[in-house]
Amino acid sequence: ADPVSSEFYRPVYHFTPKANWMNDPNGLVYHKGLYHLFFQYYPGATRWGPMHWGHATSSDLLTWKEQPIALYPDSLGYIFSGSAVVDKGNTSGFGREGKAPLVAIFTHHHPDGEKNGRKDYQVQSLAYSIDDGKTWAKYAGNPVLNNPGIADFRDPKVSWYEPAEKWIMTLATKDRIAFYSSPDLKEWTKESEFGETSGAHGGVWECPDLLPFDHNGKKMWILLVSINPGAPNGGSGTQYFVGDFDGKRFTPLEPESKWMDPGTDNYAGVTFFNTGGKVILIGWMSNWQYGQDVPTKAWRSAMTLPRELSIAESGGRIYLVSKPIKEVKKLFEKEIVIKNPAINRDIFEGKAMKGPGAYRILISGMPARDFSIVLSNEVGNELIIGFDSSSGNYFIDRRKSGDVGFEPGFAKKIPSRRVSGTTTIDLELYIDVASVEMFADNGLNVMTAIFFPNRKMDKLSIRSSPGVRPRELKIAVARPPANQH
Ligand code: FRU
Repeated sequence: ADPVSSEFYRPVYHFTPKANWMNDPNGLVYHKGLYHLFFQYYPGATRWGPMHWGHATSSDLLTWKEQPIALYPDSLGYIFSGSAVVDKGNTSGFGREGKAPLVAIFTHHHPDGEKNGRKDYQVQSLAYSIDDGKTWAKYAGNPVLNNPGIADFRDPKVSWYEPAEKWIMTLATKDRIAFYSSPDLKEWTKESEFGETSGAHGGVWECPDLLPFDHNGKKMWILLVSINPGAPNGGSGTQYFVGDFDGKRFTPLEPESKWMDPGTDNYAGVTFFNTGGKVILIGWMSNWQYGQDVPTKAWRSAMTLPRELSIAESGGRIYLVSKPIKEVKKLFEKEIVIKNPAINRDIFEGKAMKGPGAYRILISGMPARDFSIVLSNEVGNELIIGFDSSSGNYFIDRRKSGDVGFEPGFAKKIPSRRVSGTTTIDLELYIDVASVEMFADNGLNVMTAIFFPNRKMDKLSIRSSPGVRPRELKIAVARPPANQH
């Protein structure tokens, strides 16, 4: 397709709304064989506006079907971010005839904002579904959690805390996290607050999530906290804390936070409710610094690939590890395997790679020396993913990747300090027309970035010095979308 066509940047295997504005993933829940993805949605324009919850469903997390809008603004305000649970024990009483209700817990944001010095315009509310997520009713007793007078008081993420048989709400309040508990999702009691002496505070804290992991037979907790602005590469990003949670209080192992994905474009990521032992996250693949100005036409922004999270130790510290879910393999055609690929020239020697510019590239056994993996096209756009051994940084360089002029900070070489000291590097790259997701060192190092080439990227090369080449390169083209649009 031509870059001026409204569909040119449409990804092949990432979720996008058919039309108009999308930001955060909301209400991620698995129920009766379907994954539900709700999202911050403004159906009236391709920029942010009065927020609704859009809705999409999938049986495999790979192919999504957009559904009718689930929640509309009402007299209490816009429908901001939040979560959803399957209320198996019908603690809320919303269930009918022995059927478990789905309950959404979200922020009502009153659009009048701060008035007469009152900052209590964000409150927490409920909606429920008794037809497995198809249609939703707002709870007549909304709001269920009033605002104590803090302008930023939002994005409730609710989970079930088994040891005490109660619901826990993790809530962003300015630049702190508050924990609340409830027996029934309706009555909430504040348990504690976290963050005064921990983490990054260059912006407002948003969209938290609290995740339990098993570490050598012991429970270990990760607290995800998105922050805007104040991310290491500008604008919005997601930090995390490793620690302990006792049902009331989160205690970090160390005061500093780390970054889940130091690339520029993975924000407000949260995990699914009800996926058993698996922790699966989806993020908004954009950044508040320029998300409303990117050059897509019919819609704005996409979600990241679903990622399975775990924790791992490196150099005596514990890190969050992200890998694309195993099933992503199904999105691609049979791979081409190239042993000891040639360096410093077009790997396919003048042949354009098939399709609209969507690939999976697996690189293994690459020496941890200076190298660049270059995607390019006939008009000289280049997207470079590489490693710089003197700084120990991975990087994504999108300075010459195409249309970069819509925001001054967009043209950037984005660095991320490598965690892990192994002498060779294994890399997985997921390219989807206008985005790249890099997973290196088995998910210890992750970077996500968007870019807007003027023609599809259909050439591949490796730039390095003699002897610096991978043992093997595998490339597979994305299958044509069995997708929603
Ligand atoms: C994060 C965020 C949330 C808020 C929503 C509004 O991107 O700012 O804190 O609920 O977006 O759309």
